[in-house]
Amino acid sequence: MPPSNLQDVFSQRADELREYIFTQPASTFTNNPWALANAIDTFASEKGHMMIFKDKKLDAARAQLEAQQPAPRTILEFGTFVGKSAIAWGAILRDIHGENVPADVNVYTFELDPKMVALSRDLIELAGIADVVHVLEGPGSDSLKKLHTDGAVTSVDMAFFDHWEKFYLPDLQLIEDLGLWRLGSLAIADNTDFPGAPDYLRYVKDGGRGIEGSVKYESTSFETDSKQGKPNIVEVSKIVAI
Ligand SMILES: C[S@@+](CC[C@H](N)C(=O)[O-])C[C@H]1O[C@@H](n2cnc3c(N)ncnc32)[C@H](O)[C@@H]1O
Repeated sequence: MPPSNLQDVFSQRADELREYIFTQPASTFTNNPWALANAIDTFASEKGHMMIFKDKKLDAARAQLEAQQPAPRTILEFGTFVGKSAIAWGAILRDIHGENVPADVNVYTFELDPKMVALSRDLIELAGIADVVHVLEGPGSDSLKKLHTDGAVTSVDMAFFDHWEKFYLPDLQLIEDLGLWRLGSLAIADNTDFPGAPDYLRYVKDGGRGIEGSVKYESTSFETDSKQGKPNIVEVSKIVAI
């Protein structure tokens, strides 16, 4: 979890991003999620201090989703922030399924901070993908339990872990315990090298709980950037047995 002075910077960045996007003509972004995702990237590279999923990592994740059989329909995201990666997941699902995305194709993205919830919802609306991408406020674990109890989520094709790292492993295990994985589902995690999620990494690299009949993972660390000392790993773990 970042220190409180950094949290203040993130909050300031959220205000600046709102201003940056909403002072441009809406037609630039209407029904164009990739244009909006790219604009958020441009803002982030100019301003810095934006904890968004980097493009090269997104490309690696996108290739995995495009190769997935059957095609992905339900994505969970833990950690929305300003909505950049959530918008990208929605755009990828739209590219895979076509403009008229079926009603059972959804991204559920979880966020603690009400300010980020409000901004990401406005950006998702502007990009024209609010029918696909849903921002749920509160701890991801609580939102997921509710989605499961309500019957809204019965199976998960991909879960993206990009919230505070101490929650990665318990939230992964929650998906297991709710019985939401299928063969071929993907768990994708950012920041496993820095700041690091050692318990999560050990668990997926070991293949899971290692008990007869439990979910089994095959895990690969994709190196996406050659810059020394920069976080550059995205961990992709595939469910190979249930
Ligand atoms: C690294 S940012 C997410 C970046 C976003 N995925 C992107 O790439 O555009 C992490 C976010 O996770 C949120 N968060 C942390 N713990 C959480 C939890 N248990 N449930 C939901 N959101 C959480 C934080 O408030 C923060 O906005």
